[in-house]
Amino acid sequence: MRCLVTGAAGFIGSTLSARLLSEGHDVVGIDIFSDYYDISIKRRNIAESLQHERFKLIEGDLNRADLSPLVRDVDVIFHQAGQPGVRKSWGVDFGTYIDANIRATQRLLEAAKDSERLSRFVYASSSSVYGNAERYPTTEEDVPRPVSPYGVSKLAAEHLCSLYAQNFGIPTVSLRYFTVYGPRQRTDMAFTRFIRAAIRRDSLHVYGDGTQLRDFTYIDDVVTANTLAAAADIPPGGVYNVAGGSTTSIREVLEIVRELAGDLEVEFEPSVAGDVFRTGGSTDRIRRDLGWSATVTLREGITKQFEWGEAQFAV
Ligand SMILES: NC(=O)c1ccc[n+]([C@@H]2O[C@H](COP(=O)([O-])OP(=O)(O)OC[C@H]3O[C@@H](n4cnc5c(N)ncnc54)[C@H](O)[C@@H]3O)[C@@H](O)[C@H]2O)c1
Repeated sequence: MRCLVTGAAGFIGSTLSARLLSEGHDVVGIDIFSDYYDISIKRRNIAESLQHERFKLIEGDLNRADLSPLVRDVDVIFHQAGQPGVRKSWGVDFGTYIDANIRATQRLLEAAKDSERLSRFVYASSSSVYGNAERYPTTEEDVPRPVSPYGVSKLAAEHLCSLYAQNFGIPTVSLRYFTVYGPRQRTDMAFTRFIRAAIRRDSLHVYGDGTQLRDFTYIDDVVTANTLAAAADIPPGGVYNVAGGSTTSIREVLEIVRELAGDLEVEFEPSVAGDVFRTGGSTDRIRRDLGWSATVTLREGITKQFEWGEAQFAV
């Protein structure tokens, strides 16, 4: 199949592009190379795919590019582009979240309306839409009540996907990712910060007291959820949790990193507005409809990310 991957130079988009190419698909990637984190990391992320003759990269902004010609010739859109990060979504930066997460999604959906070829539009949603959920494991039926502007922007885009599915039959599916980790994880995310500090023997900073709980999901499992969602015979407008099922405290994660690194100096800082205390997703629906379940345990996944980190962060 022919695929469009938005955010193709990012953590998830670049890993997904590489998988699609390895499975024999044609991939067009688009990325604006935003400077939310070091652009040279994004160049490295995408370098492998750029070697591939079935890969084409467009350096461009989803809010400016003419999207119709891009969308017309593809079977599947994997919409991974976005402005991540809970902490920065307060204050003046919120405009960036509106543009990257809401406006860009709406433009892509508008362009997709005219496509006769499109069989699936996968949207990278987030567990942050739930906020402090009413129960755990949280199901897709539970009312989403985001507690950060980032979560609000991701939920707004998810609603747009459902609206365009209902009104125009665009075959959207929203995948609510629960904290994704593994090689290429963004430099602002906890595991990469922990592993870099451990390898460089720097002290590391943890927001909160470390008892907060997260459902972590390994990158390869997230990529598989995307490919299954692309192929599945499911009605337009669906929503699925993509959750690793390993709800674990940050303190337990630090212990695993400490075992791998030998030593770790940790400083705890006040938690940040918009951070929830706990995430944990039910995967009953995605198991039933897509046949997906997580395959990589947290210990295996952190070990793989640590090995990747040793190559990245050694001084
Ligand atoms: N990493 C996670 O744990 C996680 C969890 C839940 C949801 N998500 C969602 O998954 C998606 C990918 O996340 P990631 O961690 O790979 O982030 P990332 O920042 O590494 O990748 C996103 C990419 O999108 C690009 N982009 C942003 N605005 C764009 C625009 N207007 N036009 C073209 N490209 C643009 C950026 O340059 C970046 O390379 C995001 O939508 C994010 O909200 C991620």
